Amino acid sequence: MEVVLIPGDGIGKEISESVKAVNNALDTNIEFITYEAGAEYASNHDSLFAEGLLEAIEEKKIALKGPTATPIGKGFKSINVQLRQQFHTFANIRPIKSIDGIESKYENVDLVIFRENSEDLYLGIEYMCDNDTAHGIKIITRLATNRIVKEAFEYAKKNNRKKVTCIHKANIMKLTDGLFLDEFREVAKEYPEIESDDCIVDAFCMKAVINPNQFDVLVAPNLYGDIISDLCAGLIGGLGFAPSVNKGEEVSIYEAVHGSANDIAGKDEANPTALLLSYAMLLDDNSYEDKANILRRAIFELIKEGDKTTKDIGGNLGCKAYTEAIIERIKNYGN
Ligand code: NAI
Repeated sequence: MEVVLIPGDGIGKEISESVKAVNNALDTNIEFITYEAGAEYASNHDSLFAEGLLEAIEEKKIALKGPTATPIGKGFKSINVQLRQQFHTFANIRPIKSIDGIESKYENVDLVIFRENSEDLYLGIEYMCDNDTAHGIKIITRLATNRIVKEAFEYAKKNNRKKVTCIHKANIMKLTDGLFLDEFREVAKEYPEIESDDCIVDAFCMKAVINPNQFDVLVAPNLYGDIISDLCAGLIGGLGFAPSVNKGEEVSIYEAVHGSANDIAGKDEANPTALLLSYAMLLDDNSYEDKANILRRAIFELIKEGDKTTKDIGGNLGCKAYTEAIIERIKNYGN
């Protein structure tokens, strides 16, 4: 099976090397085909990504992406936005799970957020009515809402999740969020075995910081999904470990949520965990659940033990040595 790998900018190359080494150790039949993309590539070329990248994703359907930056003031459209539009990746899915050994006020958080990724205020339809009045248009369609809500319920069904909660502000935005909530309720009827409820976004924020364990799977329109994704990442100690996938009808692009960390790029200090956990999601979705579980076990054991991790989380290893420690565990489990 071939997977497109986009290492990206800054620490992207180092953390991608870590994924490739782990992939070898896990002995999957995944072969990575690498394409350059991002600000560093654009500094020597007229394009933000290497020729053939879009065709390769179209053909292989699966990509693993490192962080990419967009050169400012050169007229380039962010590669993330381009990929989202080109491949209609309508769902952004982020699991948020507590990790033993990572400092946080909360224990046993286990949420999965389904953020609608294609419409809402992020369509960027804005204009000036006059010099002192700006309009932004919020678009919510039944089709896009139906797709993301179904994705959330299907995930809940497949993974034995108990409840799906719709996040909205339909009390104020009666038409747009009203439609989102209405479609959520319609789809929920098709899944009587799964509990469903809804929560106004501001109330959700308050409830989540008091007791996140009252929630399970969450589904939200684009803007609220963006905000609650970061809020929930904060519940487990920050964005450093957040894996994610952008899913379309055909194409899935897996990526870590953090940026290119230029301050530590090339110093062997990068923590590859988020990209490795994104790669583990890729394994889950492609019939390699056992190997994904082995990888997560190795990562979580090392983080819990503390010293054999990277400096950003209190360990004393570099990116390469931490990767080797993960690989040693994988081999010890007899993969
Ligand atoms: P950042 O996430 O790159 O860095 C913030 C801080 O976290 C830095 O101190 C950095 O050293 C640290 N950090 C981040 N990831 C780390 C890792 N894996 N291991 C150890 N330390 C880590 O955020 P920043 O500085 O706002 O963005 C830098 C660039 O990345 C920008 O050009 C931004 O546009 C781009 N970016 C790209 C994203 C993507 O492609 N999905 C997402 C976020 C930012």
